[in-house]
Amino acid sequence: MSTSGFRTTRSRSTCAPEPRPSVTPERRPGGAGAGVSSHAMAPDAAHGTGPASPAGAIVTASTRLAEVPSVPGIVLYQADEPFAVWERTETAAGRDGLPPPFWAFAWAGGQALARYLLDHPALVAGCRVLDVAAGSGLLAVVAARSGAAQVTAVDVDELAIAAIAANAAANGVEVTPVLADLLAGPVPAADVLLCGDAFYEKDLAERMLAFLERARARGTRVLAGDPGRAFLPAGRLTPLASYEIPVTRALEGMTVKRATVYEVPGSP
Ligand SMILES: C[S@@+](CC[C@H](N)C(=O)[O-])C[C@H]1O[C@@H](n2cnc3c(N)ncnc32)[C@H](O)[C@@H]1O
Repeated sequence: MSTSGFRTTRSRSTCAPEPRPSVTPERRPGGAGAGVSSHAMAPDAAHGTGPASPAGAIVTASTRLAEVPSVPGIVLYQADEPFAVWERTETAAGRDGLPPPFWAFAWAGGQALARYLLDHPALVAGCRVLDVAAGSGLLAVVAARSGAAQVTAVDVDELAIAAIAANAAANGVEVTPVLADLLAGPVPAADVLLCGDAFYEKDLAERMLAFLERARARGTRVLAGDPGRAFLPAGRLTPLASYEIPVTRALEGMTVKRATVYEVPGSP
């Protein structure tokens, strides 16, 4: 993996080291070191998503635990290709029409930002961190590993919530998964907001950019990773660094993809 930096970043953490109030509306303890919370939009989602739950069992049985190529020391439950795992999860869940298994992959944008955090842990150390569109929870796991005080990972896919819990447990870190679509609502209090590879659909990209810019306006540092997806709002973002990321050919049609880490301008 090669990297080119565009700009240096402060190495000192801007967050207070002592624990702060949770960034989530509610919080309940989960299994094996991973907490599970739900948002008011999905009040029952806090149940049955831990690593030992039925959803957790589907995640772990459909994938294998493997290191993320760009992020040494971090393991995730990952699939080699999307279609078999999608079919397997639908069979195991006993229903069709599940969303694609985004959670079974470390996407190029997420890997780039994860690598950046690994190289700049002071960005999140001691901070309240929110990983939005978390998928596997890769960014949440890396933030927790980098010393974040509290980490919340949000996704709209119930299996992603189970994957986040399983991946947090596999890495021995505490992450609070939240099943919710927060994009239209108020931005939760957080010091740092992380967004990996979420500009692949027009509607999602527009809503995500508005959310990230609202977060920035209230003083949150906002970092995003993206490999140049169709709806990346590059003109509204400041590039920080780029990486050559190993990716799954079945997803991307290639084995290495260049992805860039961005900051929403004006971040503290
Ligand atoms: C391409 S994956 C990226 C996952 C991860 N950040 C990474 O980089 O590996 C995009 C994720 O966004 C989630 N997503 C889509 N719409 C969302 C929304 N409104 N709120 C939260 N997550 C959303 C999907 O379920 C999926 O897990």
